[in-house]
Amino acid sequence: MHVSETVADIRQILDSHRKAGRAVGFVPTMGALHAGHLSLIEACRSANDLTVCSIFVNPTQFNNPDDLARYPRTLEEDLRMLDEAGCDLVFAPSVDEMYPTAPVLKLNFGELETVMEGAFRPGHFNGVGIVVSKLFHIVQPDRAYFGQKDLQQVAVVRRLIRDLGFPLELVRVPTLREADGLAMSSRNRNLSAEDRALAPQLHQALLIAREMLRSEDTVEAAKAAVTGHLHRFPAFRPDYFEVANAETLQPVGQTQAPGMTALCIAAFLGPVRLIDNLVF
Ligand code: PAF
Repeated sequence: MHVSETVADIRQILDSHRKAGRAVGFVPTMGALHAGHLSLIEACRSANDLTVCSIFVNPTQFNNPDDLARYPRTLEEDLRMLDEAGCDLVFAPSVDEMYPTAPVLKLNFGELETVMEGAFRPGHFNGVGIVVSKLFHIVQPDRAYFGQKDLQQVAVVRRLIRDLGFPLELVRVPTLREADGLAMSSRNRNLSAEDRALAPQLHQALLIAREMLRSEDTVEAAKAAVTGHLHRFPAFRPDYFEVANAETLQPVGQTQAPGMTALCIAAFLGPVRLIDNLVF
């Protein structure tokens, strides 16, 4: 496995693979890798000749400096995991390498960013859109892999690809969960032992809502049940629970066609902000 720290180096390596006609798959990450990331690598390996992974904690997508400072950085361990998982090429640039000058460009994703993560984390999707665009230009992948846990990010990147005409296919990979249902996330390692024990209640709340909506309860009733469930655990500080269309991410008053209803939730536990979703 080769590790590139510069744009020039990775471009040169990828050029030779592309000239040899190899399909390039790309998994962008911010490191602190877990089994969920490895499932993206596996999906990528199964459909491409070359698997490229980037590790870059992107400062422009953090609206909260404490969150950026606390974000776990575990490069050595990440590289070991990627090597074992059969990744071919890693791009791990410095902040100066990615942003020789601070970008002035602003990306606005319209309605996609006025709800949920976009509403609670102003500027977040601008930062995601800019770094993902830069990474797509550098790697020029045939396919790019994103986890469903960040469902709104998937919708934003899909729109970015369409609006800017990136010639690549976006692949959404299902969320991996711990045995107790907690969605895998790099942020989970910042949870205290007590909060870690409570964290699966976020997934439980989603299961309750899904069950109710499947039995034709109203969206209002499902929302009340989720609020009631989290109130039983006062350590949670909920940001939102929404019933949304899985593609437009706009809140809806009733369930959608099969596979098109998304239940999305975000809450703080201590200093750690957790998000999760179910699509059904
Ligand atoms: O999902 C993430 O880890 C990040 O948002 C991404 C896509 C790597 C962009 O920094």
